[in-house]
Amino acid sequence: MHGVSKRAEAIRPFVVMDVVARAKELVAAGHDVVRLEIGDPDLPTPSVITRAAEAAMESGDTGYTQSAGLPDLRVAISNHYSSAYGVPVDPADIVVTQGTSPAMLLVFGSLLDPGDEVIVSDPCYPAYPNYVNFLGGVPVPLRVRAEEGFRYRPDEVRAAITPRTRAIMVNSPCNPTGTVLPPEDLRALAEIAEETGVWIVSDEIYHGLDFSGESRSILEFTDRAFVLNGFSKVYAMTGWRLGYLIAPRDFVRPAEKIQQNFFLCANHFVQVAGTVALTQAQDEVALMRATYDERRRYLVPALRDEVGLRIDTEPTGAFYVFADASTWSTDSLALSRRILEEAHVSCAPGIDFGPGGEGFLRFSYATSLDRLKEGVARLSEWASERG
Ligand SMILES: Cc1ncc(COP(=O)(O)O)c(C=O)c1O
Repeated sequence: MHGVSKRAEAIRPFVVMDVVARAKELVAAGHDVVRLEIGDPDLPTPSVITRAAEAAMESGDTGYTQSAGLPDLRVAISNHYSSAYGVPVDPADIVVTQGTSPAMLLVFGSLLDPGDEVIVSDPCYPAYPNYVNFLGGVPVPLRVRAEEGFRYRPDEVRAAITPRTRAIMVNSPCNPTGTVLPPEDLRALAEIAEETGVWIVSDEIYHGLDFSGESRSILEFTDRAFVLNGFSKVYAMTGWRLGYLIAPRDFVRPAEKIQQNFFLCANHFVQVAGTVALTQAQDEVALMRATYDERRRYLVPALRDEVGLRIDTEPTGAFYVFADASTWSTDSLALSRRILEEAHVSCAPGIDFGPGGEGFLRFSYATSLDRLKEGVARLSEWASERG
């Protein structure tokens, strides 16, 4: 009798989900838990978007669409890349998906044969190595360091490339670190891709949540790139499930075939609402960005000065602070559990994001300023009680 497949066995659990489960238990038992572990915007989806979805449902936009996505949405995505980054994207090179997560299956599924390698940062968003492994590829983690702003070192990237390397994964603004890569880093990676013939896979899902200036798309630097993007974060649409892939021409049809067979299409009325998000929600997005930035400007110094955590480089994007807690403990999972039990504050253990994240805790500021202040007060009291 065969048991569970090796492929499924090999998926590393996302341990923060255990923290979430325990936080919920504590809440159900009547405790007030400050939830700083989640990457889910607390702000509501802008009403112009919800109204568009309601109208679309009412008018019967409830059936399948083209697998690659509604033409209007693909044109809106193309226009967005052209106005935000000045890059031409042919709508024919876009495949609309049910979130950025399924788009990863399309990318890695059309790019990797067994044994092919993908360079990922360590720490990184854990789905990347899991997807690569699941498809028979080999993730090659490259350590990025807090004191260097969690940026790849181009010479190390170059040295990690082998004849089996297919892609370098880039995520800026980054989960978990909040790093926004400067243009020279993207340019250096683009040059490496062009010189060596590997691809860049750029997860741009946190674009629009950049507090230092404008995020730059990898497509400004090279067309040897796949872009993953979605509506979850910047439009506060995590539960709607909408994302997309911009692929080099040769990979569009393979990606579309994966989409056709495995997912059919993204939700019809959600795609209509996504078109409205791209074209009519810019004022709401600007307000949300300002709100996150206000929280960030409070949280970073508060974690440093009041709680005593080390943050070497100011995070300037997404809605995370990745703080070094190694003076408290080098076992981030045990530490996050202890903080949850004793201080009733939940945060994500750094080990979830790779060995390079061990000793760190990730705090999300996708929650109100008042709750952040309460969390900081509890953490500093907890820290001072431990002496
Ligand atoms: C870096 C990164 N990429 C992708 C995702 C998943 O996005 P989606 O909701 O579009 O599947 C997340 C969610 O936390 C993320 O942090």
